[in-house]
Amino acid sequence: MLQPPKLALKGRNILVGISGGIAAYKIPQLVRLLKASGANVRVITTEMALRFVTAETLSVVSENPVLTPFFDPEAKTWNNHVDLGLWADAMLIAPCGANTLSKLVNGQCDNLLLTAFLSARCPVWIAPAMDLDMFQNPAVQQNLKAFQNNGGHTIEPEEGPLASGLVGKGRMAEPETLAAVLIDHFCPSDSPWVGKTVLVTAGPTHEAIDPVRFIGNRSSGLMGIELAEHLARCGAQVHLVLGPTHLQASSWVETHRVESALDMLEACQHLQASCDMIIMAAAVADYRPETASKQKIKKSEASLELQLIPNPDILSQLSHQRSKDQCIVGFALETENAEAYGQAKLHKKKLDAIVINQAGPETGFGHSTNKVILLHANGQRMESPLMNKSQLAPLLIDTLAEWFYA
Ligand SMILES: Cc1cc2nc3c(=O)[nH]c(=O)nc-3n(C[C@H](O)[C@H](O)[C@H](O)COP(=O)(O)O)c2cc1C
Repeated sequence: MLQPPKLALKGRNILVGISGGIAAYKIPQLVRLLKASGANVRVITTEMALRFVTAETLSVVSENPVLTPFFDPEAKTWNNHVDLGLWADAMLIAPCGANTLSKLVNGQCDNLLLTAFLSARCPVWIAPAMDLDMFQNPAVQQNLKAFQNNGGHTIEPEEGPLASGLVGKGRMAEPETLAAVLIDHFCPSDSPWVGKTVLVTAGPTHEAIDPVRFIGNRSSGLMGIELAEHLARCGAQVHLVLGPTHLQASSWVETHRVESALDMLEACQHLQASCDMIIMAAAVADYRPETASKQKIKKSEASLELQLIPNPDILSQLSHQRSKDQCIVGFALETENAEAYGQAKLHKKKLDAIVINQAGPETGFGHSTNKVILLHANGQRMESPLMNKSQLAPLLIDTLAEWFYA
């Protein structure tokens, strides 16, 4: 079986909620496992949970303050549950006792944990933990069903000796199991991208005219960023070489910021050998000023001539230098005859596949939507409808996986 990468949760924000139950004493171990996988962890507890585990231990292992009441009596401020709910990429409530479960299902919010839960936009898991008969009680079972019907996920308790002395189903799943569920969510073990390293380029390049002016283009980098983020969600190790744009990728994508085409070439060449696939979504300037003035060029009445020279063709160079098993996917943006030009580029540059987009009112540079044709060098073809770039990225990545890693 494929193992998830060592830092499978790198950069992921995990909100751990602890309710009052004996199994709370195991949560510091869970937090350590999540931290060891690279996650950022914040912990919220109910008042009752602090009877079973200390805030001090949890704050040491999570490397963050532990939040319990609505108000911080020392700082005389409130603990912002909305920010926490938005911060989290995943929330796990463990142990989740019968009382907290009932409140989650009924939308109660008389403590910080419940309020953060109601504010969370991310997927939420609960790890129920209670005594044998409590767990089997029809009210609890109904609440579990209702929680799942509301879109929540349950990590089933295990069978075994319980704190009461009884033996049966009700023990909270072990911290290793809980951590594995989150790792599998972000990094599914059956994903073809687990164990793969992918280089994605995105954004424009800026070619300096002088210290304050440049030649650029209208690319925002959004398509490449969406591709990089989706690949990371599928378990790939992702390097994003990103040209100058105000957009940025999440922290689980390793971003290498560059300015010009020459910088981008250097960064890509440095990373190329370690990559299984290279997806070149950046809009690299074809030309650059032959010389960039060291000082700001002064305005004058005379016309100004700029001598432009061709930039290196990064896609061709990487394609030429690639290893036998490395896959190279190019992008083409055309304003006319898009498919014919794209097809010619695919063969001329000896690419494995090409994504062809036609610049239009809702497609290409600077738009949140796009419509593309993906061509494989062997003739396979996929055409997308007009869709959000965030939805198009999974479609492209799934098709590439089917073509090259099935
Ligand atoms: C020693 C002790 C152990 C408990 N263990 C559990 C438990 O494992 N599961 C559970 O649902 N409730 C358990 N309870 C009951 C909860 O602590 C109680 O329902 C409490 O109101 C929960 O508050 P909270 O949901 O705000 O954390 C336990 C109570 C005590 C005194």
